Amino acid sequence: MCGIIGYIGDKKASEVILEGIKALEYRGYDSVGIAVIGEDGKIIIKKDRGMLDEVSKKVDFLEMDGTLGIGHTRWATHGPPSFENAHPHTDCEGKVVLVHNGVIENYLELREELMAKGHKFSSETDSEIVAHFIEEYRKNSENFEAFRKAINRLKGSYAIVCIIEGEKKLFLARRNSPLIVGFGKGEMFCASDFTPMLKYTKKFVPMDEEEIAVVEKDGARFFNLRGNERKKKTIEIKWSAEEAERGGYPHYMAKEIEEQKYSIKESFMVDVRKAGELVKKYEKIDVIAAGTSHHAGLMLKYLFQKELKKKVDVVIASEYRYVALPDKETLVIAISQSGETADTLQAIKFAKKHGAKILAITNVVGSSITRIADETLYMNAGPEIGVAATKTFTSQLAVVYKLAFPERDFSYVADDVAGLIEKIREKAEEISRKLKFAKSVFFIGRGICMPIAYEGALKFKEISYIHGEAYAGGELKHGPLSLIEKGVPVIALVQKDETYEKMIGSIKEVKARGAYVVAITDSEEIGNIVDDAIVVECKEKLLYPFYFIIPLQLIAYYTSVERGINPDKPRNLAKSVTVE
Ligand code: G6P
Repeated sequence: MCGIIGYIGDKKASEVILEGIKALEYRGYDSVGIAVIGEDGKIIIKKDRGMLDEVSKKVDFLEMDGTLGIGHTRWATHGPPSFENAHPHTDCEGKVVLVHNGVIENYLELREELMAKGHKFSSETDSEIVAHFIEEYRKNSENFEAFRKAINRLKGSYAIVCIIEGEKKLFLARRNSPLIVGFGKGEMFCASDFTPMLKYTKKFVPMDEEEIAVVEKDGARFFNLRGNERKKKTIEIKWSAEEAERGGYPHYMAKEIEEQKYSIKESFMVDVRKAGELVKKYEKIDVIAAGTSHHAGLMLKYLFQKELKKKVDVVIASEYRYVALPDKETLVIAISQSGETADTLQAIKFAKKHGAKILAITNVVGSSITRIADETLYMNAGPEIGVAATKTFTSQLAVVYKLAFPERDFSYVADDVAGLIEKIREKAEEISRKLKFAKSVFFIGRGICMPIAYEGALKFKEISYIHGEAYAGGELKHGPLSLIEKGVPVIALVQKDETYEKMIGSIKEVKARGAYVVAITDSEEIGNIVDDAIVVECKEKLLYPFYFIIPLQLIAYYTSVERGINPDKPRNLAKSVTVE
């Protein structure tokens, strides 16, 4: 995920954009850049690797005069953070300049096509090819047509803002990555979210999927990808700047739960070919991870063993050294959102010393884990600010699924998730109001949903400060049942697969002892035997985890809020724990 911004008006563009980038930094901060069309009509670019504050010390952005410009703050996906890979990117001649947020899925094939035509690339990014395509089409078309034709070649996700030498216009395109146009008086804006624009205007048009816009000083026109014009209505936003930083959400966690409709899609696009070859070569696989990432590791184990018949061990990172036997026949898959968790880093160093090969799955480009690993898969979830992992968990799942089934397309899950959140939100809130006085909540599951029960319990305890514990349904009778008495909440994950009958048995066991039972299920009939149910529709049994974790995230979130806790900053916890 990256932040992009554009301005056209009478103000000094570099100033407006610089300030805007600061507000967008939560979307990524490994490099920044600004391009401005100068008084002579030529485009000037300044950019570098690092956070805005750092780069601003080296590069004087405000030196650039001009009233039309674009800016970018990067969260690296294709190509590590570097000067070359920082946006804006240009065509061969520096006449077409653009910023991009998203992932161009077919970029390798497009790059080859352009190279055959003689285009020279200065970066490793997928974004740069778009500028070269516009350059290519400009040979025979005017600028708008060239832009439109180039956009039509792209697969994947994009929010693009482009400027072209000699044009007093911003060219915009959007698909699966947010882009909003802001309407000022005699000046226009666009950005990845409302935040940087709120100071100047409250009137906006959020762009639709597969839409192109041409923005001039006095207004904007919108088109579909075929070039047919569309009429659009502006909306009014009344947020405060503070609210806007979180995109109008009360907490980052709420925002990040919703963002899963984008992030899951991005993560399903990850190229797993090289990692897949590695996995094929090894018979012995150890997964190392901590916290939420450990639960993604348990999912990996389930899929690899049950579906691919490949044996996998999953070990808590901090325990690895004491129990594991890595050797040169071992492939270690280390999962870490931050790529900085000390327990995980120490464990993989240990494994490496014993000759194991390391494959890392992480969200942060250039993080420490990537420097130790032999191969890295980036999950491209975009930065996560809330301490409790939500979107990075489902992105880890998406990468793990893609690794297990590289040929399958599961990306529709992302759209289902968007609908699901809306459908169940109220019910989740209602259940949270009943849970908020509990002393302890039990989560039970079986089979494919067992890791989700663990993750649900972790989410719940870390931000509600209520004890939450997950057990396999069959384990109840081996201990926890003694804690069940009247009113004790039990959240049961009941999917309609081979575990279904057994789960009903577990529910009856706790019901008989007076438990208050909430079912997360795809079975309508469960409603008759439990106290509350959240029914989810799931098209493929293999994908239950994506659908079942959403209600659990929402329940944890609302319970935390009901108890007056800030879910973004739970006491005693940190987003990334860099000490052992
Ligand atoms: C901390 C965070 C958790 C996270 C765990 C592992 O405990 O609070 O949310 O799951 O670290 O982090 P990693 O970055 O390695 O996935």
